[in-house]
Amino acid sequence: MRIILYTGKGGVGKTSVAAATAVSSAKQGLKTLVVSTDPAHSLGDSFDRKLSYEPEEIMVNLWAQEIDTVHEIEEGWGKVQKYLTDLFTSKAVKNITTQELTIFPGMEDLLSLLKILKYYKEGFFDVIIIDCAPTGETLALLSFPEMLRWWMEKLFPIKKKAIKVVGPVVEPILGIPMPSGEVMNEIDNMYYELDEMKKVFSDRDITSIRIVVNPEKMVIKEAQRSFTYLNIYDFNVDAVVVNKVIPDNVTDDYFRAWKDIQKKYKSDINESFAPIPIYYAPLFETEVVGTGMLNRMSEEIFKKENPVNIKYRGRAQRIDNEDGGYILTMEMPFLQKKDLSLNQKGDELIIKAGGIKRNITLPRTLLNYSIKKAKFDDQHLKIWFGGEKNE
Ligand SMILES: Nc1ncnc2c1ncn2[C@@H]1O[C@H](COP(=O)(O)OP(=O)(O)OP(=O)(O)O)[C@@H](O)[C@H]1O
Ligand SMILES: [Mg+2]
Repeated sequence: MRIILYTGKGGVGKTSVAAATAVSSAKQGLKTLVVSTDPAHSLGDSFDRKLSYEPEEIMVNLWAQEIDTVHEIEEGWGKVQKYLTDLFTSKAVKNITTQELTIFPGMEDLLSLLKILKYYKEGFFDVIIIDCAPTGETLALLSFPEMLRWWMEKLFPIKKKAIKVVGPVVEPILGIPMPSGEVMNEIDNMYYELDEMKKVFSDRDITSIRIVVNPEKMVIKEAQRSFTYLNIYDFNVDAVVVNKVIPDNVTDDYFRAWKDIQKKYKSDINESFAPIPIYYAPLFETEVVGTGMLNRMSEEIFKKENPVNIKYRGRAQRIDNEDGGYILTMEMPFLQKKDLSLNQKGDELIIKAGGIKRNITLPRTLLNYSIKKAKFDDQHLKIWFGGEKNE
């Protein structure tokens, strides 16, 4: 089974590219599910039809679904939510609505992911394509299993057995209701599923993450940042799709300056994401709506290639901890050893060697450290960061 997740800044074309990929996957005879996890659903708009919160077959071999998190919360998290409501009201937390507290950040995304995990385990679909909410939220979504575990361990430090014994005693004293056995079972189950989820989403033979960008400054900046973080969390980013590129045959004066700007950003994109393969989609003369347009989009992007295949298998960047410092390792297959120069500007690291230039957005952890040394061998550039800077 394949899981392909499209992410990117708002409005770049994630939903369109996800739907386009799904249409061509289904056309090959693969049972394909395209699912939107963005609460502001627009997948239905791409297909020009209303979708349901359960998978619905909208074309031969193609199922589509807009996950409804309110529905999922009732289904999968009911007892815990009820318990949290009791907990927070018992502590008389003022001025914060209980609703806000019991759907903690990322909760909705988590439930969407659990639903996808369920489809994965059922094994009915050959391909699952996920249309995500804009970047920031997607990253939270992917780091969520770890975040939630941390959060739950803080909230439920007492193990199940202890609660059975301590519960009735503590409850009247502190006035805090203890979670019941049922609630604890639900939480245990959640822990288990989180582990499974982490395994599935970081398995490079199953899951690919693709970043959709437009050739525009702000969009690229954000995409670079998520690229770095996805690499650090060890997710496989296997392609970048540059959408809304003004085609060469547009010669209108009005677009000439735009074309020059896009040309510059296209080369920035190459410098930022190499060696990840980069695909392009033109700005069409009309919106991408309906299977005809979606099919056309997929053909423009992937040409004769199969869009479902894993496009890249390496690990473009990684960070390892060593002796209180960090080593940033980057795959740079075309880099020449000679003339290597590193230049750090804020959170940006510019690497130049021979005719090659790379822009890396440094993760926040590394900003407090300074570069100690750099070494290039076996197609990898290693940079040592150490000695915390004094603020
Ligand atoms: N290559 C293209 N040419 C013309 N129109 C496009 C192209 N790609 C996307 N669009 C149109 O741009 C709009 C936004 O696209 P889409 O909904 O796919 O973006 P998104 O990244 O999913 O947005 P959001 O962040 O709001 O979910 C839609 O109306 C879509 O039809
Ligand atoms: Mg969208």
